[in-house]
Amino acid sequence: MEYKNIVFQKEDKVAVLTISRPKALNALNSETLKELDLVIDEIANDDEIYAVILTGEGKAFVAGADISEMKDLDVISGRKFGQLGNRVFRKLESLEKPVIAAVNGFALGGGCELSMACDIRIASSKAKFGQPEVGLGITPGFGGTQRLPRLVGLGMAKELIYTAKIIKADEALRIGLVNKVVEPEELLAEARALANIIAGQAPIAVSLCKAAINKGMQLDIDSAIAYEAEIFGECFSTEDQKNGMTAFIEKTEKCFKNK
Ligand code: CAA
Repeated sequence: MEYKNIVFQKEDKVAVLTISRPKALNALNSETLKELDLVIDEIANDDEIYAVILTGEGKAFVAGADISEMKDLDVISGRKFGQLGNRVFRKLESLEKPVIAAVNGFALGGGCELSMACDIRIASSKAKFGQPEVGLGITPGFGGTQRLPRLVGLGMAKELIYTAKIIKADEALRIGLVNKVVEPEELLAEARALANIIAGQAPIAVSLCKAAINKGMQLDIDSAIAYEAEIFGECFSTEDQKNGMTAFIEKTEKCFKNK
């Protein structure tokens, strides 16, 4: 399928999604959010894709939700716009494949929120992060008030959100918002290398780990451990478990089939 604001490429077992509205610094308007919704479905239904990289074209990852679209919204349409973004980001977060954000530049507002809906964030040294919404008279609307404190802790999240301040990549690394910072020209290669390592593991097991971590973080420890036991058991119904363990015992090459 062709998209207007998203470039979707497949490289072996890795999908690379590039948000591409560079004239508006890849700001997320409804059209782009709806395309993101569709491309997530496309990826979910493609058994050949084991990992996803999400990045932006030009000098921004995503500079936020589209301010020109939001400017004249009212209570009803504002809520609807927030619900659209949240639904799509939650879908991305729940996608049964790991997603790496390769944050190439500005990740502000909805852009920072989009990166947080991914599993892992790698940043270019030129990237900048922030939730500048209160400077526009709004709250973060695509999950920022919820995912930022979960990632960096309450105090740091409140400081970032209340002050609207924009931080550089090294500060984002220091507070745990990103996993790694690399030089801009190394960003995609680094993200690909990581995606390839993940794509070389048993994909169903990786997917179940994602589900266990994401779901477990919302549960009390006893329920979370019980859920882990469930999915651990489920692994033994897969061919990949048999292949992986047989290869280990017989000292042969492992070959996962996503089955
Ligand atoms: N929405 C719509 N258009 C945007 C945009 C956004 N979030 N961010 C940038 N643009 C547009 C600019 O209006 C400009 O368009 P024109 O050329 O037509 O004037 C173009 O992109 C280039 O931007 P700048 O000229 O401003 O570029 P710069 O390098 O001088 O500044 C920047 C870069 C600091 C990122 C600045 O563009 C900026 O502050 N952008 C807004 C960031 C922001 O506030 N994001 C949060 C949005 S609210 C949100 O996201 C709510 C939510 O949680 C859902």
